[in-house]
Amino acid sequence: MRIGILGSGQVGQALARGYARHGHEVRIGTRQAEVGGLPTGPPAEVAAAAELVVLAVRGSAAEALAGSLAGELDGTVLVDATNPLDASTGSPQLFVGHTDSLGERVQRAAPGARVVKAYNTVGNALMVDPQLPGGPPSMFIGGDDQAAKDTVTGLLRDTGWDVVDLGGIEASRWLEPMCLAWVAVGARTGTWGHAFRLLRPEG
Ligand SMILES: NC(=O)c1ccc[n+]([C@@H]2O[C@H](COP(=O)([O-])OP(=O)(O)OC[C@H]3O[C@@H](n4cnc5c(N)ncnc54)[C@H](OP(=O)(O)O)[C@@H]3O)[C@@H](O)[C@H]2O)c1
Repeated sequence: MRIGILGSGQVGQALARGYARHGHEVRIGTRQAEVGGLPTGPPAEVAAAAELVVLAVRGSAAEALAGSLAGELDGTVLVDATNPLDASTGSPQLFVGHTDSLGERVQRAAPGARVVKAYNTVGNALMVDPQLPGGPPSMFIGGDDQAAKDTVTGLLRDTGWDVVDLGGIEASRWLEPMCLAWVAVGARTGTWGHAFRLLRPEG
């Protein structure tokens, strides 16, 4: 698949390298001139050319970037990996929650994009091909477009994930706080290789 990734931080680079390992054609849309030898381009050009785009920028920039690229993202599957983190007070807080979410703001900013929330409840090191003793961890997703969720589910299963669909994009209201639970485990244990798994009666 031709995949564009918006953002060249830890998430953007981890996904770019991981997807490339799986044979996808990947380009990072970034303002940077160079990103660790990875293929890059201007965000608008990368978004327009991709079959699937991952939004992996700082939470505070996500809504505005999605809005500025709304035309390029029209009809495109947009995987929203962002979290609405505000670290200005020391310990991280969410700048939106309960009755709205960053996932919903991104969807409203780019109404033609087929937004699927994913990847926001796990650290970047595990995002592609997670290896854990308990087996594949669960990636929780949400979005309003079933075909887009089917595409993302396929990509996630191919890259080592069990997938749990929580419904529409408003599931971001529950998924974004889960990132703080993931961070709390790391802060208390000093290790960052953990991931959530949903245990079901049917196994
Ligand atoms: N780090 C993790 O393990 C992890 C896990 C789950 C979810 N997340 C979420 O994933 C997102 C990316 O996280 P990260 O750790 O890779 O990087 P980050 O440090 O949160 O963000 C870096 C990226 O944000 C972009 N950015 C910052 N300000 C911008 C602006 N004004 N306009 C456009 N782009 C802007 C930069 O784009 P350029 O490339 O153009 O410089 C850069 O690539 C965040 O929302 C984070 O909460 C992170």
